[in-house]
Amino acid sequence: MARLLGGLGTSHVPSIGAALDQGLRDTPEWKPFFDGYEPARRWIDEHRPDIAVVVFNDHFNALFLDRVPTFAVGCAAEYQPVDEGWGPRAVPPFEGAAAFGWHLVDTLVEHMFDPEIIQEIKVDHGLQVPMELFWGRPAEAWPVKVVPIFVNVLQYPIPLPARLYDLGKVLRRAIDRHPGDETFVVLGTGGLSHQLQGARAGFVNPAADRRFLEDIAFRPDELAGWSRERYIETFGGEGAELIMWLVMRGALDPEVVVRHRHYFVPASMTGAGMIVMENA
Ligand code: DHB
Ligand code: FE
Repeated sequence: MARLLGGLGTSHVPSIGAALDQGLRDTPEWKPFFDGYEPARRWIDEHRPDIAVVVFNDHFNALFLDRVPTFAVGCAAEYQPVDEGWGPRAVPPFEGAAAFGWHLVDTLVEHMFDPEIIQEIKVDHGLQVPMELFWGRPAEAWPVKVVPIFVNVLQYPIPLPARLYDLGKVLRRAIDRHPGDETFVVLGTGGLSHQLQGARAGFVNPAADRRFLEDIAFRPDELAGWSRERYIETFGGEGAELIMWLVMRGALDPEVVVRHRHYFVPASMTGAGMIVMENA
């Protein structure tokens, strides 16, 4: 049977990708950030998952305000990296796992979630950067297939944290019932605290970020019960992206063990965090 190996959380700040593009990995500014991911890279190397379900948001690069799905599931054979305006990056296309994508859509609809179905789309830093952080950038092909879950966290009204947690539980059912023996990881991406615009531009909250990296493992029900406004107040307007980690956490068992965790501030204007969890 298909099997969930673990849940991974990470920031997806675009400047992380830009730092890699510009060969800045080992500069004094970036080395501590990237070094913090090395244990997670080894975890991936040891477990070699077949399929990564990546929960992320497009940042008006492939979807725009003319159509904003609250939830969408990728059922494409392939996802090209989108050019976000600085030219194409040397990131290979991502192979999709369309059979699981359709099975996930089916399972979601059976459980009263009604996602948009996407068969052609490009993916931005929200997916590219987490993949590079955990797998490293391959010269030719990624060693894992991806199934993107797109969440609207930009256009009011964004979904409730509790809804995302429940979606994660349905995702887990879909994985457990998927025929075959493929292994899965689920990635929750975005955050941690940051606000890119408005009166609080530049806001970060390292104390709340560190607490989140603890609570997402051991008190997820509490985090799922927070209001959206509390996320925005605590983590900043864009830090509310953190609600997407609840999909990943909902897919795991209630009891987890934390294998790896890392926090670094600031990456660009953002508190940057990572976690690797397995079912206890
Ligand atoms: C930035 C963009 C993001 O999508 C994010 O999650 C954090 C930071 C940025 O442009 O700096
Ligand atoms: Fe983002």
